[in-house]
Amino acid sequence: MREIIEELERRRLAARLGGGEKRIEAQHAKGKLTARERLDVLLDKDSFEEWDVFVEHRCGDFNMADKTIPGDGVVTGHGTINGRTVFVFSQDFTVLGGSLSEAHAQKICKVMDHAMRVGAPVIGLNDSGGARIQEGVDSLAGYAEVFQRNVLASGVIPQISMIMGPCAGGAVYSPAMTDFIFMVRDTSYMYVTGPEVVKTVTHEVVSHEELGGASTHTSKSGVADGAFDNDIDALLAVREFFDFLPSSNADELPERVPVDPADRLEPALDTLVPANPNKPYDMHELIEKVLDDGDFFEIKPDYAGNILTGFGRMDGRTVGVVANQPLVLAGCLDIQSSTKAARFVRFCDAFSIPIITFVDVPGFLPGTAQEYGGIIRHGAKLLYAYAECTVPKVTVITRKAYGGAYDVMASKHLRGDVNLAWPSAEIAVMGPKGAVEIIFREDIGDEEKIAARTEEYRRKFANPFIAGHRGFIDDVILPRETRRRICRSLKMLRNKHLENPWRKHGNIPL
Ligand code: HXC
Repeated sequence: MREIIEELERRRLAARLGGGEKRIEAQHAKGKLTARERLDVLLDKDSFEEWDVFVEHRCGDFNMADKTIPGDGVVTGHGTINGRTVFVFSQDFTVLGGSLSEAHAQKICKVMDHAMRVGAPVIGLNDSGGARIQEGVDSLAGYAEVFQRNVLASGVIPQISMIMGPCAGGAVYSPAMTDFIFMVRDTSYMYVTGPEVVKTVTHEVVSHEELGGASTHTSKSGVADGAFDNDIDALLAVREFFDFLPSSNADELPERVPVDPADRLEPALDTLVPANPNKPYDMHELIEKVLDDGDFFEIKPDYAGNILTGFGRMDGRTVGVVANQPLVLAGCLDIQSSTKAARFVRFCDAFSIPIITFVDVPGFLPGTAQEYGGIIRHGAKLLYAYAECTVPKVTVITRKAYGGAYDVMASKHLRGDVNLAWPSAEIAVMGPKGAVEIIFREDIGDEEKIAARTEEYRRKFANPFIAGHRGFIDDVILPRETRRRICRSLKMLRNKHLENPWRKHGNIPL
């Protein structure tokens, strides 16, 4: 018995040492924590239950028999974050570069299978050189097993990927199929093929950072949802983020005892929209003044800034917020913003998170770049996502709601539950100037006539009342009452039940 206990200790120690002191020092020298240190920060104290510490790879080729390390480069198990169960895997770069062997993949699959059985989220801490090269097709099979589970878990349990080191080859595709990807600045990269392969194939010379660093993926490609300065900041942020999410699609929304009164008035909002309709204002201000305690966890803050997406709480319960941002491209919808918001809306819908939409949108961005890039298809994604979703939808039009973009942004016609407008709302096919130049083309050149026609159009359409007459707007509210009205609407919608017709799945324009 004593021998077995000693053996157990020896194996546990070997697992804790991973690739050895030297590699751990190298990991620290890069400013990175080890796989286990990361879990210590992510999970509640003493909550981690580790599984499969004795698993080793079974590869005998390329002298691999001499390179077995208990745990095989990934630490897996479950723990809690603020008391709620979460399944985790944390790749250990000190063990063969965190590369994925067949055994390593089986460990990940085991926690994913359990997470599905009990209905709890999975958080993956990725730090891996991709498929374990020495294992050949066995490691590719391992990846495919993980991919398959990512897809089956999609929409059932939340899946979060933290990119905390290099993630090359297959290592990027599992995160790509999870719900959210967060990166660490300067120490994490994601690419399908690294700079050397790029140079050989396309003759481009590019650094790891330029090709797949956090700034590339949070601002250019939109692959990642956020970035943080170091491992600790990233892990603490994901703890905060986790608190917004339900544990599964069958679970209730997490609730907090609210401190911020649901009927709080915000007089400053009465002057948020400038008198000049062409002057921008910051939509963040509205969001922060409306949400509980001004707490807004923004998703993709550096990508497609013309639309804002993120999570907050209203009267203690999680909500998703989508808002046009007049400060960027005047809040127009374009390819990037449509895809960004569509994905967000679909996440909220999958996990029964009510959606608040703040609208100030002059339309779709015109131009050849947009048309050639497929704005029709990409814009349709957002239209599809809003039309398909069945969660409570509360919409507030603050200013412009023009043309097709009016329809898209959770309008009454797409089953918006409560559609409110501020007195400054302008709901029309297009802005007054553009409209007059089309319907009174013969007057172009006569400044006075055009000005008079524009004013007439503005008086007639640049207000919320015509939509109000039709019942497309449920009420025109004072900006200061926005929080109170949304909180009441969400309370009324708590037991909303709406189902789409049965089908295998819809065919969203991808
Ligand atoms: C086996 C690997 C490995 C891998 C790294 N290592 N990647 N071992 N398989 N894929 C080992 C190294 O040999 C080294 O071992 C240790 O990990 C650390 O690696 P370094 O290169 O010293 O570290 P660094 O300089 O930081 O560079 C990290 C890296 C680089 C950028 C990830 O290692 C790299 O380019 N690796 C290969 C990436 C790759 O091409 N992967 C396969 C992709 S194909 P020692 O013993 O010296 O410490 C793929 C297909 C899946 O994934 C497709 C599914 C759809």
